Amino acid sequence: MSDLTPPVPALFPARAVRERLDDLLTRALAEAGERVARGPVMPDIDMAEFRRDLAGFDFSQPRPLEELIEWAIARLEHGTVHMTHPRYFGLFNPPPTFPSQCADRIAGSFNPQLASSGSSPVPVAIEAHVIAAMAQRAGLPPESAGHFTTSGSEANYTALVCALTRAEKRFATEGVRAFAGPVAMYTSRECQPAWHKIAHQAGIGRHSLKLIATDGKGRMDAEALSQAVREDLERGTVPVLISATAGTTGAGMVDPLAPCADIAREHGLWYHVDAAWGGAAICSERLRGQLAGIELADSVTIDAHKWLATTMGCGMYITRHARVLNEAFTVGADFMPSTASSIDPYLNTVQWSRRFMGLRLFLALGAAGWSGYAAHVERAVAVIERIRERLVALGWSAPNDSQLAVLCAVPPPGSAPIREIVRRVLASRRAWVAVATYEGREVIRICVTHGEVSLTDVEELVAALQAAR
Ligand SMILES: Cc1ncc(COP(=O)(O)O)c(C=O)c1O
Repeated sequence: MSDLTPPVPALFPARAVRERLDDLLTRALAEAGERVARGPVMPDIDMAEFRRDLAGFDFSQPRPLEELIEWAIARLEHGTVHMTHPRYFGLFNPPPTFPSQCADRIAGSFNPQLASSGSSPVPVAIEAHVIAAMAQRAGLPPESAGHFTTSGSEANYTALVCALTRAEKRFATEGVRAFAGPVAMYTSRECQPAWHKIAHQAGIGRHSLKLIATDGKGRMDAEALSQAVREDLERGTVPVLISATAGTTGAGMVDPLAPCADIAREHGLWYHVDAAWGGAAICSERLRGQLAGIELADSVTIDAHKWLATTMGCGMYITRHARVLNEAFTVGADFMPSTASSIDPYLNTVQWSRRFMGLRLFLALGAAGWSGYAAHVERAVAVIERIRERLVALGWSAPNDSQLAVLCAVPPPGSAPIREIVRRVLASRRAWVAVATYEGREVIRICVTHGEVSLTDVEELVAALQAAR
């Protein structure tokens, strides 16, 4: 072996070098985090200059990793909207919990391949254990199965594939041609828009996604749903899936979960509950009643990287029909170290190679327990309540009556248009809020994603909104 070159030190440095860089990384990240919290929410980098800087990386000459780490941290500090900022009242992108960051380091270090229980028996068992705990907490039966996904969209896609697989035996081999007519799936017009892509990529086509009217309060109108399914059946369409949303993206509203389940049962359709964000409410005894009816679902999406605040991306797909899940994703592969159809992720999920995502929620739940997570979600709801009170006292209105942590705010008459107010708030860099459409009208969407937001941050947000209107 004398002719073998040594390992490339830039890729596999010696232990002493790694330890020094690890320490540097830990310190530099902590310091950057402190500066971010004190600084603007919005990026302040000159992108033209940055692109020139980036173009300088032609990778012809290696650079010291220490320099690169400092470069990357500084560019991220100035070149991104800060989801970790306490005044990011934004989309469902929370600052990650510390245990989930620890999990990423552990997973990145061992780098287990989660495709099979043969190569990763302990990681696969840990993920299955967390999924079972979440299923139980949601009220699903003990035989439920599931897995971690990269996203809520992947979990929702998995639901559609399961629905198609159960609805028609020959779907596996013939695709949608196997159905007696065009297939249809139903969700509300307030659904998360990734459903359009999901219908596309699953091969049923975007026109097969039927967007059901809402009831004036952002919830799917169950009567309209029932009628749409009946009419489709009469004209020879084949309904396969109803997806109710538990915590709509725009307004945090919860569809009527039990009535939607009844309609699905009446017509033999797969019933999915997209609780990508709102699902975290199952941790709280006080809030879980908001999701009553979730236990009737054939499958559920809950994203740990949303309100459960793990690092990205850490979705979950849970179903009471383990057999259907396996039917949908099974495959033969001689080279794999195991073929356990009940547990091997490569036989039950969209992905093949997989990262150990579930450790993030395992460590966070382990460290905080259900009670810690209950306090986390209840705190967010209390903050939203405070913002609502403050704005209403100043003449604003809040058309959505979500009991979860999303507020749709409308300024008093005579104020600037919604988009202009949001533009001004972002330009002020004091806070981050979004424009959303709720029941056909534009609103300012305010969501509490930060687990450490303070009442001072609330006052700063209210002041920024008032100054902008
Ligand atoms: C209700 C709902 N479902 C699904 C998704 C998609 O999740 P992801 O962004 O993880 O794909 C979102 C994202 O905000 C959502 O709010």
